[in-house]
Amino acid sequence: MNRLSLIPRLAFAGGLVLLTTVVPAAAFGDKEEGRTIATRWCSACHVVTAGQQQASVDAPPFVEIKKRHDGKMDFLEAFLTQSHPNMPDMNLTYLEIRNLVAYFESL
Ligand code: HEC
Repeated sequence: MNRLSLIPRLAFAGGLVLLTTVVPAAAFGDKEEGRTIATRWCSACHVVTAGQQQASVDAPPFVEIKKRHDGKMDFLEAFLTQSHPNMPDMNLTYLEIRNLVAYFESL
């Protein structure tokens, strides 16, 4: 094997390392980030934290939604990638959705 052929191999190995370190973080979500997103994008209509005083009467509070779905928040992934009749389409990224799921699970 000559020296030149080693470079693509090293690049490939580097890529693999990157993939394995970045993907798990995205797969589980960060509840603190999720809380920030919920406060920014959802709290106009939903009660998203225990301390929140005001929201729309039509939108169920987040704790209520969690109860309704028996704590299984995986449906959110599908729910939030589509637009909803009474909800604006927020164009959330996959990572933002994972973070929201993590936040719901922490409630
Ligand atoms: C403009 C107001 C509005 C905003 C902003 C909003 N929602 Fe909603 N959402 C509603 C309403 C109203 C409902 C009830 C719809 C229904 O029952 O048909 C709802 C329902 C839901 C449901 C379904 C509950 C269930 O049991 O099926 C989920 C989950 C949800 N919202 C999550 C979110 C998240 C997460 C955000 C922020 C990214 C958000 N919503 C932002 C108004 C809003």
